[in-house]
Amino acid sequence: MKIIKKTIQYQKAGKFEETRYEKIHNIIVDSAQEGSILVAQEIAKLIKDKKEKGENCILGLATGSSPIKVYEELIRMHQDEGLSFTNVISFNLDEYYPMEKEDIQSYHYFMHEHLFNHIDILPENVHIPDGKVSKDDLHQYCIDYELQIKNAGGLDFQLLGIGRTGHIGFNEPGSHINSGTRSITLDYITRVDAAPAFRGIMNVPRRAITMGIGTVLAAKRIVLLSWGINKAEITKETIEGKISSQVPATYLQGHNNTTFILDEGASSQLTRVKTPWLVSSCIWDNNLKFKAVVWLSELLDKPILRLTDKDYNNNGMSGLLIDEGSAYDLNIQMFNRLQHSITGWPGGKPNADDSNRPERANPIRKRVIVLSPHPDDDVISMGGTLDRLIEQGHEVHVVYQTSGNIAVTDQEALKFAEIASQLNEDSGTVKEIINNLKNKTKKDIDSQNVRNLKGIIRQSEARAAVRYLGLPEANIHFLQLPFYETGSIKKKKLSQDDIEIMNEIIDKIKPHQIYAAGDLADPHGTHEVCLNALFASLEVLKHKDYMKDCWVWLYRGAWHEWGTYEIEMAVPMSPDQVMKKRRAIFYHQSQKDGVMYQGNDSREFWVRAEDRNRLTAKKYHDLGLAEYEAMEAFRRYHF
Ligand code: F6R
Repeated sequence: MKIIKKTIQYQKAGKFEETRYEKIHNIIVDSAQEGSILVAQEIAKLIKDKKEKGENCILGLATGSSPIKVYEELIRMHQDEGLSFTNVISFNLDEYYPMEKEDIQSYHYFMHEHLFNHIDILPENVHIPDGKVSKDDLHQYCIDYELQIKNAGGLDFQLLGIGRTGHIGFNEPGSHINSGTRSITLDYITRVDAAPAFRGIMNVPRRAITMGIGTVLAAKRIVLLSWGINKAEITKETIEGKISSQVPATYLQGHNNTTFILDEGASSQLTRVKTPWLVSSCIWDNNLKFKAVVWLSELLDKPILRLTDKDYNNNGMSGLLIDEGSAYDLNIQMFNRLQHSITGWPGGKPNADDSNRPERANPIRKRVIVLSPHPDDDVISMGGTLDRLIEQGHEVHVVYQTSGNIAVTDQEALKFAEIASQLNEDSGTVKEIINNLKNKTKKDIDSQNVRNLKGIIRQSEARAAVRYLGLPEANIHFLQLPFYETGSIKKKKLSQDDIEIMNEIIDKIKPHQIYAAGDLADPHGTHEVCLNALFASLEVLKHKDYMKDCWVWLYRGAWHEWGTYEIEMAVPMSPDQVMKKRRAIFYHQSQKDGVMYQGNDSREFWVRAEDRNRLTAKKYHDLGLAEYEAMEAFRRYHF
């Protein structure tokens, strides 16, 4: 669906074109990449303008995942275009406390790794709160940090990310508008979000040093970056909500030169994006009509066929009725659309009229690729559909894109290594693995052998799960895409090698259907990279004959579900099928009972999957359709 975008120019921050819901100037860009380049250009211009005037440029800098691409672009400009940082004085927002500079989790390490080591900023001009200041000196240290910023002339530009608590810097809920640099206790949610980088929440420091809200608001220009669906709720609350110390980022509403840069995911909850008919007149294409009708039905808790003209008129949708004539016809059209998305035949129903079905009837026996970013997404997100595809006689191949090795705990790996050692006491490899696991410190990355073992554990689990669903051994494929193989949560960039591996398997199977994870809320970004690998591969292969007959379906489920209005194929499950899916997920034992990378949802994966599938079925029922036990949902991707 086309999202209605603001068309204001990026730099014209003074010329707001706010909607009546929005209190902070913001622009929506197509991707974090595009937005980051715009921001890097603004920073570069500021540095150059200051240089021409013989002045220093005082930058407030952030860490975390949000600014990484801005820093990459600044480095590129330095290397390719000669952008110099010799007149830059930088002040970082925050640092964990206590924290050694050399620690790979420190913001000191982060800034050098992602920016300072690659540009010509003078070391004496870099300021990052020191996580090793003694407790006794901490108070004075913070006052001095604040003074250093003032003495440098104040911040010309402050770059920000936003935490899910609404923090900016580490100003957690409760922070005062006038607060200065100080030490602070981190919110639990912030620590959960940081847990993967620290390999578990128990290793995340409880405290930090942060610039205050007052420090940030004193900056002449502020740009906040918000990327991805995980930030959508807090972004909406910050831009549209009341100013409150409970969401410290809302204080930015009072700053007169702030811009938020949002990608589509982060902007998805804004009123003007989510329910544009409440903001202005709309061009009602079929998708928008469907979205609006589903929204109205959910809002009023009424099945679609019971919506009245009055319901439409009272809820900002009179324009739609003018186009459509009456609620009666519109309701029927939209009800039919929803009904047609339901099918128990995800591979197409043989010998049936398929004009109103989500999939083609022919060929009757399809070749199907189910892409699974990690070795468990297949059964978690589409175990029921996978089961049906196999049972209905299609040639199904499950293709695991990454090894998923970092998500296996050391204890789990040790258990298997000890079993292996009892079977073969002399194996040098097994001895090395046991030694590595037993002597590993917090900072160490797993040895290659340990990584291999962890990968093998996940492969065996994946094999067991799909074997249980009846998939032949020969149809299970492990790609182990190289971008993933770093041994840490920081991955390499997608490369030609990854894409060629993808091309090869697709070219070999010549599928009629590809299922892929469109679940972009995955906190570590692996799903997104895996999806990009598929897109890149489709680009290469799209001219091949067999690709002309290939449909791509995107599933979600492990982290997030499609909105009802987005679903184009809903596959119902009986109570028995729900149980079968649950058992298949249980084979992924290394991912049960408190997994390493839980994300921000404390439920186990099988519980999340079941809850979501049940909720989808309930939503269909509430909209007026038959009552199913559970449903898996898909959206078609047109390439
Ligand atoms: C980092 C900082 C934090 C982050 C925020 C978002 O210096 O001050 O406020 O900007 O936690 O983190 P990411 O960007 O990792 O989502």
